[in-house]
Amino acid sequence: MVRRRFSSAGLVVCATAKNGLTRETEMTETIVDTGAARAVDAVKAYGSGETEVRALDGVSVSFPAQQFTAIMGPSGSGKSTLMQCVAGLDRLTSGEAYIGETALSGLNKTDLTLLRRDRLGFIFQQYNLIPTLSAKENILLPLTLAGEKPDRAWFDTIVQTVGMANRIDNLPSQLSGGQQQRVAVARALVPRPDIVFADEPTGALDSRTGMEILSFMRQAVADAGQTIVMVTHDPHAASYANNVLFLADGQIIDEMPNPTADRVLDRMKRFEG
Ligand SMILES: Nc1ncnc2c1ncn2[C@@H]1O[C@H](COP(=O)(O)OP(=O)(O)O)[C@@H](O)[C@H]1O
Ligand SMILES: [Mg+2]
Repeated sequence: MVRRRFSSAGLVVCATAKNGLTRETEMTETIVDTGAARAVDAVKAYGSGETEVRALDGVSVSFPAQQFTAIMGPSGSGKSTLMQCVAGLDRLTSGEAYIGETALSGLNKTDLTLLRRDRLGFIFQQYNLIPTLSAKENILLPLTLAGEKPDRAWFDTIVQTVGMANRIDNLPSQLSGGQQQRVAVARALVPRPDIVFADEPTGALDSRTGMEILSFMRQAVADAGQTIVMVTHDPHAASYANNVLFLADGQIIDEMPNPTADRVLDRMKRFEG
């Protein structure tokens, strides 16, 4: 059996011989993982001259495919800006953002909209549900817009996981903040996008629902090869990720593979100190 996986250095071909022995060969020179999404020298400036704010100040980062990456950092450090620019919801001032091999600056508005629709899922900090549509209609909206039929079993699995099965016909105004958040999570996951971008997806949830959703997201990465990029300020939420990136003042200052909540908390304390 031959498996392939990407390491930060390149492609690792992992061959298991008939005698059960495994041999890994790192092919660093031939293939380099460019990530499911990435940013190169990304700068995002608001305002100009003396009042210019650099929300992103030269960020280069790759989000590996089939991995769960968390982004952490103090408020105002550029987390949401980084995610929105890589996800094609906002444009960089300079530098480049890529989804797969597609450079986003080269796309016009229509192509960008189609790329987002076909390949990306978003969980927004502010939910962004359509107030006149039921929870179910909101969840199915990305597929409806794309003219696609939902996979019934997958839809049911997700609605069960986010715990919204008995509220599915309610309007957003009839749901609590936490319930609206669950609808937003389901809406992002149901179309099985290549990459899910999530901005504080568990911010409005009680810890039990939050844990269920994080476990589900991690399982989607491990089992279904989903790629997830998540902004969070919660060390426990970050511990579900494969890797944590730490942002400060618009720059990536550190990362932590295989995080635990305790180690993330320690690292965050050093930010503040
Ligand atoms: N539309 C905007 N206009 C002006 N400044 C902005 C705008 N959006 C974000 N900023 C500024 O950019 C910086 C980074 O913001 P943001 O990415 O939202 O940070 P985070 O998500 O880490 O809290 C902050 O200083 C913020 O005030
Ligand atoms: Mg933010």
